[in-house]
Amino acid sequence: MARLSAVVLALASLANAAPSLLGRQAITALSTTQIDVFTPYTYYAAAGYCAPATTLAWDCGTNCEANPGFHPVASGGDGDSTQFWFVGYDASLATVIVSHQGTNPTQILAWVTDADFALGPLDSTLFPGLSSSIEAHSGFAAEQAKTATDVLAAVQTTISQFGATKVTIVGHSLGAAIGLLDSVYLPLHLSGVTFQSILYGLPRVGNLAFADYASTSNTVTHINNKEDLVPILPGMFLGFHHPTGEVHINDSGAWNACPGMDNPSTLCSTGDVPTIFEGDESDHDGPYNGVEMSSTCPA
Ligand SMILES: *[C@@H]1O[C@H](CO)[C@@H](O)[C@H](O)[C@H]1NC(C)=O
Repeated sequence: MARLSAVVLALASLANAAPSLLGRQAITALSTTQIDVFTPYTYYAAAGYCAPATTLAWDCGTNCEANPGFHPVASGGDGDSTQFWFVGYDASLATVIVSHQGTNPTQILAWVTDADFALGPLDSTLFPGLSSSIEAHSGFAAEQAKTATDVLAAVQTTISQFGATKVTIVGHSLGAAIGLLDSVYLPLHLSGVTFQSILYGLPRVGNLAFADYASTSNTVTHINNKEDLVPILPGMFLGFHHPTGEVHINDSGAWNACPGMDNPSTLCSTGDVPTIFEGDESDHDGPYNGVEMSSTCPA
């Protein structure tokens, strides 16, 4: 009897576990309230496009005004050889914010279709102790490496200045790719804080081992708009995969949470945009619940 119930229990837990392992959990639409939770982070990602002097003074126009209580701590990059970034603290969200600049659809499509950027191991100085099976897009890894130690120092300063216990990494496009790498990198060097990343128009950044690792190093949410091409690139046939945490905005404007990785449902990017011919690069910049990603910074 005891034995039988143990089997029943085991089967019951298997029945619960199996659908998630197979990525067959139900796709659920977010409520308006759940969608609105992302809006401050969307503005922080959009502000990543603004010049460092304006994010350090927090006078970057609309994208800064949307989060008036932000305390900027550090910023950097030149928007040319190094993407802009900024770090600071949001007391009402009780989190450190790390934001990375993205790039326009034409440039990010060049990044994700350039076969010279193969998968390769991560730098063992920046990413100590990671399995050598974990590989990432060499171009994105090189971009993340340019700002990694400056961003880490700024996050450490912010944590001690504000007694922060949470770090949120945001970014759009190339900035989302750098952000996902940060979401693996920063937890390797910081303890006593939790991490989440909220990323927009994220391309595939690494192999399955990387995607698995990133899915557990922090809580990832990556939001994809309609037929944006970038989230389906580089192709899975090249060995690239997404972490868990996709939210896909469909043509009706619904935000659908897509369980698993690279969910093949037509309600999710991988299924909705089966080939590049179904894609539309004009969807890349948004709008994400009314927020456009680029061209909203003061000249
Ligand atoms: C968009 O998603 C919603 C919620 O899941 C669904 O009811 C609707 O049919 C979808 N629309 C399209 C065009 O796929």
